[in-house]
Amino acid sequence: MNIVSTADLRRTYGEGETAVHALAGVTLSFPAAQFTAIMGPSGSGKSTLMHLLAGLDRPTSGSVVIDGQELSTLDDAGLTRLRRDRLGFVFQAFNLVPVLTALENITLPLTLAGRKPDQAWLDQLIETVGLGDRLTHRPAELSGGQQQRVAVARALVHRPAVLFADEPTGNLDSHSSEEVLGLLRQAVDEFGQTVIMVTHDAQAAAAADRLVVLNDGQVVHDGAGQDAEGVLDLMKAVA
Ligand SMILES: Nc1ncnc2c1ncn2[C@@H]1O[C@H](COP(=O)(O)OP(=O)(O)OP(=O)(O)O)[C@@H](O)[C@H]1O
Ligand SMILES: [Mg+2]
Repeated sequence: MNIVSTADLRRTYGEGETAVHALAGVTLSFPAAQFTAIMGPSGSGKSTLMHLLAGLDRPTSGSVVIDGQELSTLDDAGLTRLRRDRLGFVFQAFNLVPVLTALENITLPLTLAGRKPDQAWLDQLIETVGLGDRLTHRPAELSGGQQQRVAVARALVHRPAVLFADEPTGNLDSHSSEEVLGLLRQAVDEFGQTVIMVTHDAQAAAAADRLVVLNDGQVVHDGAGQDAEGVLDLMKAVA
């Protein structure tokens, strides 16, 4: 079953002569429990695509269906609810709440939704991200890698239909990057989560099952995951 799909998705900024076709007809399907990396040169439409998939922006035309829900049928409140209840996000800039502890940050999506954590799942997550002895620390007391692991746990705490990651390793050293990618990999392999990640980093893309490459707002490659060298070769060939 596809958890996310798009049909002839288009997003145009501006009008007439100066119009920019940031997405120019993108049709993609993402099955459950798959880890997809989206790559492409600067300006190729990666962020635009992520924003449309996550209901943060609306398409000029075409459709996005997430977890059986056609996004265009939802009003802004409906989109906000979908994001809160069904989607998880990890960003380059960790985006943790500074005054909350690691544990409070992890459970924040549930707190906001007025839901109780599933304690067994929470325990498993905390063990997986390896932060058991850091739960009372505030973000400023954690390394970048630890902060991003908190962010991954937060993104998974409500068992989202899809986890969107936008350059999740962009601010991390290679060791911390590997840890965070390993976590995303585990989320897919062990917990059956679906991950869609935008990255510029061939090493990060190599953690994925599938590689989608955009250029000029269109899909120019969609195939199986590659090792880092394969990713670099492919990028040279298609983008
Ligand atoms: N709000 C906006 N108004 C006008 N043009 C925009 C806007 N946002 C993006 N664009 C244009 O749309 C195109 C795609 O931008 P997008 O941000 O999706 O690229 P990207 O692949 O994420 O690039 P990067 O790797 O640099 O983050 C670019 O030409 C960009 O200049
Ligand atoms: Mg971008």
